[in-house]
Amino acid sequence: TKAQAWSALFEEPMSDLVKRYTSSVFFDKRLWQADIAGSLAHADMLAAQGIISAADHAAIERGMATITQEIEAGQFDWQLDLEDVHLNIEARLTQLAGDAGKRLHTGRSRNDQVATDVRLWLRSEIDLIDGLLTELQRALVEVAGNNVEVILPGFTHLQVAQPVSFAHHLLAYVEMFSRDQERMRDARRRVNVLPLGSAALAGTTYPLDRERVARTLGMDGVCQNSLDGVSDRDFAIEFTAAASLCMVHVSRLSEELIIWMSQNFGFIRIADRFTTGSSIMPQKKNPDVPELARGKTGRVVGHLMGLITLMKGQPLAYNKDNQEDKEPLFDTVDTLKDTLRIFAEMIGGQANAAGVKEGGITVNAQAMRAAAQKGYATATDLADYLVKKGLPFRDAHETVAHAVKAAVAQGVDLSELPLAVLQGFHPAIAQDVFDALSLEGSLNARNTLGGTAPAQVRTQIARHQARLAL
Ligand code: ARG
Repeated sequence: TKAQAWSALFEEPMSDLVKRYTSSVFFDKRLWQADIAGSLAHADMLAAQGIISAADHAAIERGMATITQEIEAGQFDWQLDLEDVHLNIEARLTQLAGDAGKRLHTGRSRNDQVATDVRLWLRSEIDLIDGLLTELQRALVEVAGNNVEVILPGFTHLQVAQPVSFAHHLLAYVEMFSRDQERMRDARRRVNVLPLGSAALAGTTYPLDRERVARTLGMDGVCQNSLDGVSDRDFAIEFTAAASLCMVHVSRLSEELIIWMSQNFGFIRIADRFTTGSSIMPQKKNPDVPELARGKTGRVVGHLMGLITLMKGQPLAYNKDNQEDKEPLFDTVDTLKDTLRIFAEMIGGQANAAGVKEGGITVNAQAMRAAAQKGYATATDLADYLVKKGLPFRDAHETVAHAVKAAVAQGVDLSELPLAVLQGFHPAIAQDVFDALSLEGSLNARNTLGGTAPAQVRTQIARHQARLAL
């Protein structure tokens, strides 16, 4: 039996081990919709160009409709022997449509077919990821909107640095995720280009109308070089790089959620459904979801390394190496989508029957405030206060270092030192110093664009709300 399209040349059948080794159908079958869409666009163009008859075109359309139903119903007989999604669908089409099915591959190769399929599939996944990134940003902006006046210590080196608004802190992640979204949109422009018509590598002898196929498939243009069109997977690498960066942002946020949830911080709680217990320690509620997201980031970054290494060293044009692009790409998409979805819900909550969101993170403003009051978070404010009284900044810095040293020795905050003691460090210090040393005073004073003053934070929230149609 001739199982493969090229059997006539072969003296013996492929060994079972080689079949298993080379077959991709059990993972690339998820490209089936893209494969059928690409084939239908190709067939439409072949008919319009008079390369196949209208009757053959109609037979191909009918056959593909049947195949779509079969796949959707789980009744399609995927065969390892037919190697990949393309040959499986084509073989079934030929069963259903006879010679018309055999004419579909005119002017086409699996090389330009698979490159087209992956691009079409990835384009729609990027659009889903774009939507999920919007949802996650919305969740963060909503929580930020409720927490503009909530103050927590900002850290550098994980040492208390200066007080910041919790909203401001969350909006930092909104910035990161909005850049991730831009990167996805930008990558999409290079994904959404049509290889079909490149054929195996050199183009084809048939008078194809590639622009027509691109229009039918909603693509922004056609690959301008057939060798490049069938062989480069830079679009997939670029997407995976953007996905890796996005996961890195999620991972940083995860790390913070984990720290904030720890007993020593106690800044937030997340809903129980995102935590797990311990089989031995009855008191435990562990932050498994953020921990797993942090862990899965390694997996996605690994896929980036896998894909970029896969490309390196491949001579032009197509090589079977490229079949290895699929599993890392699929897993990157699956991991990123699941992660974004779960984070949007874990942070922002889920709409109940009345459309009100519930079950997002719970903020312990008191614990945050207490932490901000420790660690001399307003020491810089005292220095700035002295600068306003005329001291050069470097002198002010030194003066405050002495004051902090004294406060540390007494185990009190700067604001707990009596005025007379503070004046001992510099005579310019007056009663109004206590405004500067307060957490609110510290925040309000940072009223520069992008700063943590509530007025600035509200401006940013309004900008994001408009941008995200909230
Ligand atoms: N399954 C193959 C892939 O994913 C399709 C292209 C095969 N082309 C070939 N000449 N062997 O890359």
